[in-house]
Amino acid sequence: MKTNKQNNEKADQLKLHTTSNDNEKLTTNQGLKINNNQDSLKAGERGPSLLEDFILREKITHFDHERIPERVVHARGSGAHGIFKLHKNLAEYTKAGFLTQVDKETPVFVRFSTVAGSKGSTDLARDVRGFAIKFYTEEGNYDLVGNNMPVFFIQDAMKFPDLVHAVKPEPDNEIPQAASAHDTFWDFISLMPESMHMIMWLMSDRAIPRSLRMMEGFGVHSYKFINEEGKAHFVKFHFKPKLGVHSVAWNEAQAISGVDSDFHKRDLWEAIENGDYPEWDFGVQLIPEEDEHQFDFDLLDPTKLVPEDEVPVEIVGTLTLTRNPDNFFAETEQVAFHPGHIVPGIDFSNDPLLQGRLFSYTDTQLSRLGSPNFHEIPINRSVNTVHNNQRDGHMRQQIVKGKSSYDPNSTGGGCPFQAMMSEGGFTSHQERVSGAKIRERSKSFVDHYSQAKLFYNSQSNPEKQHLQNALVFELSKVTIPEVRERVVGQLAFINNSLASKVAEKLGVQVKKLKWPNQSLPADSNKA
Ligand code: HEM
Repeated sequence: MKTNKQNNEKADQLKLHTTSNDNEKLTTNQGLKINNNQDSLKAGERGPSLLEDFILREKITHFDHERIPERVVHARGSGAHGIFKLHKNLAEYTKAGFLTQVDKETPVFVRFSTVAGSKGSTDLARDVRGFAIKFYTEEGNYDLVGNNMPVFFIQDAMKFPDLVHAVKPEPDNEIPQAASAHDTFWDFISLMPESMHMIMWLMSDRAIPRSLRMMEGFGVHSYKFINEEGKAHFVKFHFKPKLGVHSVAWNEAQAISGVDSDFHKRDLWEAIENGDYPEWDFGVQLIPEEDEHQFDFDLLDPTKLVPEDEVPVEIVGTLTLTRNPDNFFAETEQVAFHPGHIVPGIDFSNDPLLQGRLFSYTDTQLSRLGSPNFHEIPINRSVNTVHNNQRDGHMRQQIVKGKSSYDPNSTGGGCPFQAMMSEGGFTSHQERVSGAKIRERSKSFVDHYSQAKLFYNSQSNPEKQHLQNALVFELSKVTIPEVRERVVGQLAFINNSLASKVAEKLGVQVKKLKWPNQSLPADSNKA
């Protein structure tokens, strides 16, 4: 069973680029065998080292350039290879090949991450967890770049750099590493009512998973499925762990961080090594395009989820992680996910957060990975071959034959042709769009508290107590009394008793805020 699952097309492709140094002779990068790896070349026994020493120079030069920038967010991660298996044919909704052939197995690479901490930070931080999946489909790579919480802090990509600057360590002294325990984070949150639903999730036990194998995954945004006839459905993606959802308590998280800050990384690695393969049910919530406006929230608003009692999650497949990476840097660090990597049958919605993400990922990867050819790094290669007229650039690997690289082209110089739709050529879903060009938030995005209330009320009493304790703990690190007061004012729109209990512990008043249920006025930074 183990060999079967491990034996997939992507694994075979990776094998072509995998080597082992076992029992080999040491060489330079040019393949020259090295006879002395202990001493540099010197002029005389106690003399200066010689510039001529190409072996020393190569070794040190390569070492000097070992580091690449860590991801600007989601820097700390753990990855694994696996298989996605489809159980239900979704052809009624989508023409994506990997979702229309029952029992089809698609190779995947998954990377879990924390968001705010640096690459060496603790696994047990109170934080959102990234849940990113690269499906190596026969129609190209499909990346589902999600999180372990179904909603997000902000409604528009314009706010993302501000959110991240607020949550990252403060710029003067680079502290604190802990995501949510400081003035700048809570100042920003207190001025962004749209973040309150996500704050309920972040202060809940969901933010401290017991294991990466025991957390859910969500696509967050509404995406679109498009079938052969061109009909569209909105779709929300879900991964539900077969082991159930489990968290640790905050005191446990702190104790574990002290003893083993690699706790989640180690747990995932050991489970896979032991053949205890982590598994998730893959499910979808499907909404016909014409029902877009049937909800009391906007499907395009990423601070809202679609309640499962309104649209049930239909389980259609299984995700199983079966193999640890051979090399952390080559695979987990160099993998480049992008919500814009889609295949025919899947398309974007107009969610303004998603729309901004579509720009950000390739842009950041150009500087993180350093070359426009990062799609040629083995972990990023699609299983089908790539043919286009792009050429050259730093570290180009592919050797493309032929005399020309442009289109249209009558020379027959080896150029690829456009694919018709019937040949699998991608076409964007034809959606009618009209309206004035405006820089404004839609009025349908204005209710910031109903789902935050729904989430808080869904918690059991011990969970509510944990959430309250988390708010008190995190806000007790905030040194500006007005910021504490503003957060408590926001909580009062969710639950009065929660607000007053937190206020009492923090020694502040519950004051009525001026801007309930709406985005802030432009001069809010003077609030
Ligand atoms: C990583 C940008 C919102 C999930 C990243 C990275 C950037 C970024 C620049 C680093 C990528 C890299 O270096 O390879 C943004 C922007 C957002 C946004 C601009 C909003 C406008 C979100 C949301 C989600 C999300 C809403 C979840 C649905 C992730 C995940 C990763 C990531 C999981 C880590 C991928 C990996 O493991 O390599 N994001 N992000 N991001 N983002 Fe976002």
